Amino acid sequence: MSIDWSKLGFEYIKTPFRYLSYWKDGQWDEGTLTEDSTLHISEASAALHYGQQCFEGLKAYRRKDGKINLFRVDENAKRLQRSAQRLLMPAVPVEKFIDAVKQVVKANADYVPPYGTGATLYLRPLLIGVGDNIGVKPAPEYIFTVFCMPVGPYFKGGLTPTNFIVSDYDRAAPQGTGAAKVGGNYAASLLPGHQAHEHQFSDCIYLDPETHTKIEEVGSANFFGITKDNQFITPKSPSILPSITKYSLLYLAKERLGLEAIEGDVKINELDRFAEAGACGTAAVISPIGGIQYKDNFHVFYSETEVGPVTKALYEELTGIQFGDKPAPEGWIFEVE
Ligand code: PLP
Ligand code: COI
Repeated sequence: MSIDWSKLGFEYIKTPFRYLSYWKDGQWDEGTLTEDSTLHISEASAALHYGQQCFEGLKAYRRKDGKINLFRVDENAKRLQRSAQRLLMPAVPVEKFIDAVKQVVKANADYVPPYGTGATLYLRPLLIGVGDNIGVKPAPEYIFTVFCMPVGPYFKGGLTPTNFIVSDYDRAAPQGTGAAKVGGNYAASLLPGHQAHEHQFSDCIYLDPETHTKIEEVGSANFFGITKDNQFITPKSPSILPSITKYSLLYLAKERLGLEAIEGDVKINELDRFAEAGACGTAAVISPIGGIQYKDNFHVFYSETEVGPVTKALYEELTGIQFGDKPAPEGWIFEVE
């Protein structure tokens, strides 16, 4: 294996082992590790036709002492259960989810990037409806799999700010599936995302689908802003993904940085309130937003080239906890033994 850890982007790399478990006749089998990276499924699988699938994303972090941390993996397990419930899929028990993730990390431990490279092992748990079925109804069988790959920054700049554009499209409907981590939301974001990239933006920002006046989230991350009077504000909406990173930052902004932390409205015509802004998520970590293009107006926050001080402090606090360099709030870190 020859991987230049510090040059990794966010691309698929085939690692040796993945976890695979089948649900049939009302129950999960025990699950096993396999080297086969191809799924063999019915052509009539509901995941393929009707989008009956959901997924998760989390990372394993190599510590200075060589051990490996997982960050709030129980929250990913619970969110997969909520996504599954929305699409009438069977729940993966939290313990089974955590055990699967740990097995995959241990089996692929050589691919957990060294401490200090900034790279991490990204884990992708996936739940899909399979088996023979053609009517619009839930699948008769399910597969739960977890695979992984080493990754670097999701947005090219890393901690260097990049620019975003507000999309005219919606990614989710007001009472739709926006809060569930289901493939359909991402399928809806492919065209707007492509248009954003064509115009050299990192990604698009969606407005609330009801009034198109408030920021919802980025296509692949949540949004936050730091006001000029030190409030950390992140949108509250039933149609955005409840980001585990976002809830962690709400806590850290208040408890460690002494900011006022608020889930509330971020009006698109009030961006002047913010001294800094960023995208946050597992893949995005904290990616500073240089500027936002909205119709004919390009609004610059702190700077197009330099990360703002509060964003940087939040980044250091969050990644310090994830890599085991800073004390974690209780229950946030799961060590892979
Ligand atoms: N919003 C969207 C649309 C995402 O895809 C992600 C990534 O998972 C997030 C937000 C951030 O969520 P989390 O912090 O749980 O990774
Ligand atoms: C994540 O951060 O885990 C995501 O799912 C974002 C993107 C890769 C879809």
